Amino acid sequence: MDVLRSRLRHAWRPFRLSSRISRVLIFVGAAFVVGFVLLAFVGPLVYQYGGTQYRVEVAAGQFQNLPQLQAPSAEHPFGTTRDRFDVLGRVIGGTQLALVVMLLAVSFAMVVGVPLGLTSGYRGGPLDRLLVTVMDAVYAFPPLILAIIISFLMAAIFQAGVLSAALAVGLVYIPQYFRVVRNHTLSVKQEPFVEAARSLGAKGRTVLGRYVFFNVVQSVPVILTLNAADAILTLAALGFLGYGVQPPTPEWGYDVSQAQTDVASGVWWTAFWPGVAIVILVTALTLVGEGLNDVVNPLLRARGASGPRIEPEAAEGARTKRAPAVLRETGPGGPAVSVRGLRVGYRTPDGPLWAVDGVDFEIQPGESLGLVGESGCGKSSLGRALLQLMPPGGVVRGRVEIAGKDLVGASESTLRRRRGEDVSLVFQEPMTRLNPLMRVSDHFVEVIRTHKPDTSRNEAKAMARTAMAQMGIPPTRTDNYPHEFSGGMRQRVMIALSIVLKPRLIVADEPTTSLDVIVESQILDILDRLRSDEQVGLLLITHNLGVVAETCDRVAVMYAGKIVEIGPVDQIFSDPRHPYTRGLLASTISLETTELHSISGYPPSLVDPPPGCRFAPRCPYVMEHCTDAVPALTEVGPDRRAACYLYPGAGVPVPEDVRAPEGHPQVTGI
Ligand SMILES: Nc1ncnc2c1ncn2[C@@H]1O[C@H](COP(=O)(O)OP(=O)(O)OP(=O)(O)O)[C@@H](O)[C@H]1O
Ligand code: SF4
Ligand SMILES: [Mg+2]
Repeated sequence: MDVLRSRLRHAWRPFRLSSRISRVLIFVGAAFVVGFVLLAFVGPLVYQYGGTQYRVEVAAGQFQNLPQLQAPSAEHPFGTTRDRFDVLGRVIGGTQLALVVMLLAVSFAMVVGVPLGLTSGYRGGPLDRLLVTVMDAVYAFPPLILAIIISFLMAAIFQAGVLSAALAVGLVYIPQYFRVVRNHTLSVKQEPFVEAARSLGAKGRTVLGRYVFFNVVQSVPVILTLNAADAILTLAALGFLGYGVQPPTPEWGYDVSQAQTDVASGVWWTAFWPGVAIVILVTALTLVGEGLNDVVNPLLRARGASGPRIEPEAAEGARTKRAPAVLRETGPGGPAVSVRGLRVGYRTPDGPLWAVDGVDFEIQPGESLGLVGESGCGKSSLGRALLQLMPPGGVVRGRVEIAGKDLVGASESTLRRRRGEDVSLVFQEPMTRLNPLMRVSDHFVEVIRTHKPDTSRNEAKAMARTAMAQMGIPPTRTDNYPHEFSGGMRQRVMIALSIVLKPRLIVADEPTTSLDVIVESQILDILDRLRSDEQVGLLLITHNLGVVAETCDRVAVMYAGKIVEIGPVDQIFSDPRHPYTRGLLASTISLETTELHSISGYPPSLVDPPPGCRFAPRCPYVMEHCTDAVPALTEVGPDRRAACYLYPGAGVPVPEDVRAPEGHPQVTGI
């Protein structure tokens, strides 16, 4: 009983959260539609005249014709027609026909159009191009002309009846479903929450079914009701032109056309009632469609922020001081990740480019590496390459070893298994990374059961509660929808999802960018705790050097697709070696900042990077030979490397007068 009550509460919820105006639209529209349904199916039981009846039996075997063109009266409330039919009887019969044809037509169009649109949009390629061409050609035809042509064909094959009319009307609407569903699929496919699901190892079928289909399907009731209204109009137009269901079957459009001559002679009722029926039913269906548009689309509701919103809990005090990583040596299980010669390339309209161009590093279990650098230097490309989660057209070369196995070139099924289990990605925008139509617990159940199919739903939910509790979210919140959480809580949910399968490595790509400083501090604490308690390796991508200083053991500085300096955070921040690192630090505000310097110029185009050292066009220490060849990443101290000709080992001898006395540049001008 409790389960039933809770289900009902959830089913009712979208209506509660929708605006009052949409609820009113739906209820008014639905009341009229229900009225027509009752008229169609209860009417014949209680009303004495049928739609094709022109006489009544007055005695056994004796019939009396109904009056011709009688004005509305107690006996015939809507009057009678020239053919002696009772107008109310014909309106009731016409309602029956309209509803049956409408139902058959929209079901037919939906059953064909939705799967075609979904497959075409999701798969893409030649099939998509073929379907789009065919559907566009059909769509370009005026619907009524097309319906007339199809109704001719149908009548020749099946005879002119209800089925032919329904097929003629339905076929016309297939392209509409196809186009709406395909376009919606294309956009949902790009949604961050679909990418997030893929990053946690969701299967293609699951992504198509649960993420794409269930989001796309939200638009179907809206098209369905609006198409139903169109179907009524098309049927009436076919009947009006004489191409619909053949007489004497009652049909509104046909009856209006027959009544045209009556109107000229002052007989208004024969055309009026079927006309009014068309207008009211079409308007009622449109009202329902428009109202549903708001109710069934939780994204719209969330944007309107009309629903209850739970604010982040009060800050639990300042960030606790991080426990430093003790593990620098490779543990028995090997590094959390070992990256060798990694390159990530894209094709762009300006030409191909390597966004990451030959990068090597390792992260040990329980260690955090910060990745910093100006916008466009390849940080996100590098982070995604660790999960092989590339956009279409992106290529990865080199080696990314996690748990001793290379991920580059692994099959899609291997990658799906390893994402979530071995490596997880925490994204920048927590607002958009959760499927708005799924409860938080469902996200967990799906991730867990995708990787561990033997886990029961209840066990998975228990794991979800534990992971959420670890993130400081009360277990009672697991059945909430994403829009009921604040941004900070959503990010914690994302992190809980990322760690529920206990991966060896977490890649966090600007995980706190959209959050306020208090929530940022909480999220960083959580990541730090995971690192030290669970011995997870952490790659933290950020623009914020302060965050790196507080959270990371080591830092890698990237410039134009290459790591130019890497080493322990405290050493690099107190004693940067590469001129670019110095420039970055000099342009950062801190409590000690007395003067702020920015690096002049911009990072180079990666399509055609400058020869030799890519920082040369902006470097205050540039030497003649800096542009001859790319400097190698070389030891510049214990556990520290930098790629700059100012240090011996980078490949070219450094002239005495340029080398800094202590072995690193005396940077004064930047
Ligand atoms: N899908 C793509 N197609 C083509 N080029 C891309 C694609 N994604 C990124 N790039 C290019 O690759 C380079 C690196 O981009 P990336 O997003 O990895 O940089 P980033 O360091 O993360 O930048 P930001 O700090 O702004 O997030 C940029 O030149 C960018 O234009
Ligand atoms: S290699 Fe030359 S140009 Fe590049 S950072 Fe070092 S000094 Fe500057
Ligand atoms: Mg980025």
